[in-house]
Amino acid sequence: MNTQELINKAIEARNLSYSPYSSFKVGAALLTKNNEVYLGANIENSSYGLAMCAERNATYNAYCHGVKKEDIVAIAIVADTEKPCSPCGACRQVLSELLPKSAKIYLGNLNGDIMETNTSNLLPFAFGKEDLK
Ligand code: THU
Repeated sequence: MNTQELINKAIEARNLSYSPYSSFKVGAALLTKNNEVYLGANIENSSYGLAMCAERNATYNAYCHGVKKEDIVAIAIVADTEKPCSPCGACRQVLSELLPKSAKIYLGNLNGDIMETNTSNLLPFAFGKEDLK
């Protein structure tokens, strides 16, 4: 699967968004070495703080299906933003622990803009499990 195809999967995942409060649909698609794709969308709640972002849902979806960190090749995240959709701080923390450093992170929007990044760029000096030793 190429980058554009993965971006298209993330765009498709936006249809799964439950976002009656923000009306801001975010979709994510995570790609594994076996060419499997796991989708995620943002899921909100009337207790606003309980919303879960699309990229965390895609990552948790993959883990819940047995995907291991080292199996993850890339994740694409797309929303209807002016610039490519940038993950929130909580998602940066989660992605930095659950994705390998080699994983490509594609940020996109509906205009076709794509930015490629990785966990080190999104969250330098991340807190991690080594810090708990
Ligand atoms: N959101 C995501 O799903 N991912 C992001 O990268 C940014 C924010 C969601 C959370 C909430 O449902 C809505 O977008 C507005 O913040």
